[in-house]
Amino acid sequence: MMSEAVPAGRERVLSGIQPTHDSFHLGNYLGAIRQWVELQKTHDAFYCVVDLHALTVEPEPKALRARTLASVAQLIALGLDPEKCTLFIQSHVPAHNQLAWVLECLTGFGEAGRMTQFKDKSQKSGADRTVVGLFTYPILQAADILLYQANKVPVGEDQRQHIELTRDLGQRFNSKFGPTFTIPEGYIIKAAAKINDLQDPTAKMSKSSASQSGVIELMDAPEINTKKIKSAVTDTEREIRFDEKNKAGVSNLLTIYSALTKKSIADSEADFAGKGYGDLKTTVAEVVVDYLKPVRAKALELLQDPAHLNSILKLGAEKADAVATKTLKDAYDAIGIIPRN
Ligand code: TYM
Repeated sequence: MMSEAVPAGRERVLSGIQPTHDSFHLGNYLGAIRQWVELQKTHDAFYCVVDLHALTVEPEPKALRARTLASVAQLIALGLDPEKCTLFIQSHVPAHNQLAWVLECLTGFGEAGRMTQFKDKSQKSGADRTVVGLFTYPILQAADILLYQANKVPVGEDQRQHIELTRDLGQRFNSKFGPTFTIPEGYIIKAAAKINDLQDPTAKMSKSSASQSGVIELMDAPEINTKKIKSAVTDTEREIRFDEKNKAGVSNLLTIYSALTKKSIADSEADFAGKGYGDLKTTVAEVVVDYLKPVRAKALELLQDPAHLNSILKLGAEKADAVATKTLKDAYDAIGIIPRN
């Protein structure tokens, strides 16, 4: 790691989330946001709503506007405290795009083409309907991270390859042009790194799933989430046991239960000893709904006052911009770009 680039004092963390839907889902929370909330207590934390990344799904302008603010409201409702962390919108800090271009010029075409998320998504829609932004998406993500000299990046398992690319690009830059970037590590909590779809428990819970019936949305009414959990796919056995390979549905429900109650998987299994799948689903539904009720209420309350949210974002953008502009300047200097006088 390049010691010159490590900021003095607390370690830095940075992460981002896309405002592509009206609501985040339980996978986003357990896989990432919950760690964001913990890390803001001990780290110099930067968290952004990555609206530029969301452009890759070509959203309606009205929806993008509403979802960006709804994302900020949910993040605060879930426990981010703007006094403890820097919460901002990616597009408010132009250095993200500027560094992304520099990194694009250091990334191999084949290297970018090997990103599995890009391969999956582009294979689904075909080359002519895949936008170039989807191809360069991980490079913009690398810029998000490297600009803040982040030591850790709290994300779910699906982002591991993008963090690897970020490390490769940071190292490549440093070795070509001199120490400029801190090389970050992924911060991936194994126990909740992958929450699966309730209807297709071998696939991750995802905002882009064809059907939303297996996705627990934080902003949905309690009845809707209860219904979804009660209809979760299980198996033809009767035993409540954690076995991801043979009992993906039951294991996913146990993972959710264990993550929200903070009990170990073994203790969670013990809670259901001798009980049936109906009991498991009812209890998991109660735990999820009780957990989400105050979050949803708080987010809705925050959305009543957009001026307040905007003032938080203004401050966040100023703090983020100061750090990002400095790193961009160092990177430009290192590669030989003449500063404007
Ligand atoms: P996004 O918005 O798709 O996902 C946000 C976070 O949620 C995690 N996640 C999950 N975790 C566990 N189980 C799931 N089923 C599940 N689904 C999603 C993701 O791993 C992610 O941490 N590319 C990033 C956005 C980004 C970013 C960044 C992240 C842009 N710039 C810089 C970190 C640092 C993404 O996947 O967003």
